[in-house]
Amino acid sequence: MSALPLSLDDDQLAYYRSYFTDFFVGDFCPGMGTEHILDTLADSGASGDWLDLGAGPCTLFWSIALSDIRSIQSTDAAPEALAVLREVAQSGEVPRAFGQVLDRHGKDTAHLDQMRARMSGYHVFDAMQSWPDTFTGQRFDLITEFGLFGLSPSVDGYRACFRHVKEHLRAGGRVVGADWIRSAQYVASAGHDNTYLSEDLIASAVSGAGLRLTSSRLCPIAGDELYDALIVWSAEHTE
Ligand SMILES: C[S@@+](CC[C@H](N)C(=O)[O-])C[C@H]1O[C@@H](n2cnc3c(N)ncnc32)[C@H](O)[C@@H]1O
Repeated sequence: MSALPLSLDDDQLAYYRSYFTDFFVGDFCPGMGTEHILDTLADSGASGDWLDLGAGPCTLFWSIALSDIRSIQSTDAAPEALAVLREVAQSGEVPRAFGQVLDRHGKDTAHLDQMRARMSGYHVFDAMQSWPDTFTGQRFDLITEFGLFGLSPSVDGYRACFRHVKEHLRAGGRVVGADWIRSAQYVASAGHDNTYLSEDLIASAVSGAGLRLTSSRLCPIAGDELYDALIVWSAEHTE
């Protein structure tokens, strides 16, 4: 199933292609918090039907850490992000960082091929609002967001993202997320001050949505102009 529009913006396509190249075509770069996301996914015990929110071109990369995934759907507000993800999924190529992370998780390219085959849906919508009607009644075993909820313009908006997720999570389902905290320099140049992010806020947003926090970790990032830290967290639907 695919819901991508036929008309795509060339500049946006170029942006997402270089996003993918910058992060994955070279060596995997430890020390930036990414390894904690991979470990949290691997430790989550999540399996079954997975929905990745604000996926960018990255769902296939994160899939390396997961096992027993039955189906994969990716969403983003930008259709071009999903078009690039679909190119990546269909290309059969194994970028260097993918190979290194496969080794790190004791997996081989057969795992990647399975994940590619299970990528069945690409959906364009704003995940900070109530989800579209096409998702009414649909529930998932795993929902992820890496770098999306922390783009919420306010604390209230951040909290609301968790309530939307809860509506689409099966009983026993898992949510795994990571939110990057912008540096003062990045806020000054690009705006969007998300220094409201904290482990306390995440704990309260999780419980406010009726979920149970299962892990949370603040990972400082040294020597990065854009981000001071990353918070990696996981939660479950216990009802
Ligand atoms: C920082 S990137 C993260 C991409 C990817 N998840 C990763 O692991 O690197 C944030 C992504 O969220 C998407 N995005 C921004 N606002 C959104 C919204 N309101 N709803 C859905 N996606 C959104 C952007 O288009 C972008 O692809």
